[in-house]
Amino acid sequence: MLEHLEKIRSQALRAIEKSGSEDLEAIRIKVLGRKGELTSILKSIGSLPAKERPRFGQLANKFKKEIEAALERRKAQLESGGQVQQIRGLDPTLPGRRCHVGRLHPVSLMMGEVCSVFERMGFSVVQGPEVELDFYNFEALNIPPDHPARDMQDTFYVDDKVLLRTHTSPIQVRTMEKISPPLRIIAPGKVYRCDSDVTHTPMFHQVEGLMVDRLVSFADLKGILTYFVQEIFDKDTAVRFRPSFFPFTEPSAEVDIQCVMCRGKGCRVCSHTGWLEVLGAGLVHPAVFRYVGYDPEQYSGFAFGLGIERITMLRYGVDDIRLFYDNDLRFLEQF
Ligand code: PHE
Repeated sequence: MLEHLEKIRSQALRAIEKSGSEDLEAIRIKVLGRKGELTSILKSIGSLPAKERPRFGQLANKFKKEIEAALERRKAQLESGGQVQQIRGLDPTLPGRRCHVGRLHPVSLMMGEVCSVFERMGFSVVQGPEVELDFYNFEALNIPPDHPARDMQDTFYVDDKVLLRTHTSPIQVRTMEKISPPLRIIAPGKVYRCDSDVTHTPMFHQVEGLMVDRLVSFADLKGILTYFVQEIFDKDTAVRFRPSFFPFTEPSAEVDIQCVMCRGKGCRVCSHTGWLEVLGAGLVHPAVFRYVGYDPEQYSGFAFGLGIERITMLRYGVDDIRLFYDNDLRFLEQF
């Protein structure tokens, strides 16, 4: 009888130690319930010889209290998540850490989109160096030594002959030096200008375009750029070509699109003109062709350059260019 009692106790304590919270009540019923193992023993004490009854009764009651206490302790332990904590030093009741999913920067997204529109029209993507020679950035593009763009205030110079490119146009020259016409290329990349306010950052992105062949005309330029604008914005966005000047194109134009905010009615974004300037373009100047050894009598071509940040701002309604470079995840996660 004593042995049986001891066995009930040790089995119950072991079961409690290993239990999960859903097992505890079953263990309690099995041992301490109305028909439980220990309860039955306590009930049968009356049938024992009188002199054994007190000692046996005391022991059985002591075990009963012990088991009840073990149940309580286990219950508290499970409720505080203590089981795993004890095992691995970790608290499973703490909220989990959210996984952040990375995504492309809005400027990279737009760059990809712009390139893919031109790739569909047969343009290939080429690249050039960001640290550039004065020759490619200015001289071979027919930009005279006293041109204001060469001013220290606009250009980051490394030394007399080396600078950070101020536009992607030097890639035109580098490409034409290497391959002969016909060619159709676009050149995306970073450019640098000493400038900083709500619409300018010292580093920004441009995409350059160049097409050279026999009989390339301004009409080709208009057709391709109009198609491009309508792919990036709306199919019915109006496009306007305004006469302008660049030393490396003749004739030159600035390309405006109908304001995407007010649809041409006039608002703060378009300074109440209804139009937004998005591109510089023109037919390649014969002097540039001569620098790279193309015969301007045989070949003609067009070139254009556009600012990616500007287009991204218009597309998503962002009104401060610096937001792109603050690295605030709350901003970047929206794209
Ligand atoms: N490179 C000019 C700029 O940065 C843009 C341009 C490119 C204009 C090609 C004409 C032709 O402003």
